[in-house]
Amino acid sequence: MAEKVLVTGATGKVGTVLVRLLLERGVEVKAGTRRPADAEGLLGARVEAVELDYEATETWDEAVQWADRVFLVPPPFDPRSDDLLVPFLDWAVQSGTEHVVLLSAMGAEARERMALRRVEQRIERTGVAWTFLRPNIYMQNFSRGIVAHQIRDMGEVRLPTEDGMVSFVDGRDVAAVAAAVLTVDEHAGRAYTLTGPEALDHYQAAAIISEVSGRHVGYMPVDEDETRYSLLAAGWPEDQAETFSRLMTAIRESRRAGISQDVPKLLGRPATTFQAFSREHAEAWR
Ligand SMILES: NC(=O)c1ccc[n+]([C@@H]2O[C@H](COP(=O)([O-])OP(=O)(O)OC[C@H]3O[C@@H](n4cnc5c(N)ncnc54)[C@H](OP(=O)(O)O)[C@@H]3O)[C@@H](O)[C@H]2O)c1
Repeated sequence: MAEKVLVTGATGKVGTVLVRLLLERGVEVKAGTRRPADAEGLLGARVEAVELDYEATETWDEAVQWADRVFLVPPPFDPRSDDLLVPFLDWAVQSGTEHVVLLSAMGAEARERMALRRVEQRIERTGVAWTFLRPNIYMQNFSRGIVAHQIRDMGEVRLPTEDGMVSFVDGRDVAAVAAAVLTVDEHAGRAYTLTGPEALDHYQAAAIISEVSGRHVGYMPVDEDETRYSLLAAGWPEDQAETFSRLMTAIRESRRAGISQDVPKLLGRPATTFQAFSREHAEAWR
């Protein structure tokens, strides 16, 4: 059983839930964030938030020297995440980290040029015990961030995904899997693909959101440029908007449609459906 876990990305969609689940299991946790002063409101007073920035070596010591295991979260859509994470990772392994659980992404194993795959390969080479979690797109992208804003402001989802199918996964299921693999040794050397129980296109997802929220929400297929401009207007860097575009292409080609049984196998219960997720998050769209 792990005694001390450093959760990086602790303010994020998975990290926030994972911190709570680990505390419930009696695990000691430090929550890594670039802004620890802001984190207490989000995470509660029971967890110690520590400053951690992959780009600031002076912040690595306090969090990493203490931990037995590290949950490693790459910043989203960053095509340089390998440049960013590898020095931190190497340093953690040299400092005695025993197990690294990486939050990777579905399909990384087949994409040698993807930054997340390069992080995976580096972890494999260090000799540390590792587990890779490869989730599909989170359902939470409908309740937080750009799509949630579109729904609230315009009553529609506007993405260039057309009728591409996606087996969206609930980020809370991803956190539950992370808590399970961080607290026993048997998952070392394993990679898990984490999806929901069904594949939906964005027309179907919008119809479910309409049904549970009581307001009409439609899906409007748009061209890639519209999405790109709105991301840039929201302050996304050019290269991250480019990575987002590649994901949209993968969806259009239904390369995010596959359904894995890893969530039910690891949790001993079915993966959360989009319907159940939407019922629990209906307030986000009202
Ligand atoms: N979102 C999805 O649908 C999805 C799907 C599949 C896989 N994933 C995986 O999940 C990862 C995270 O994506 P997300 O969208 O869920 O984001 P998120 O975890 O909700 O937010 C990103 C987190 O990264 C932290 N962070 C950003 N820059 C950092 C830095 N320089 N040093 C240390 N921490 C930093 C932020 O912490 P602070 O701001 O508190 O410092 C924040 O907690 C992706 O890279 C990918 O590997 C996500």
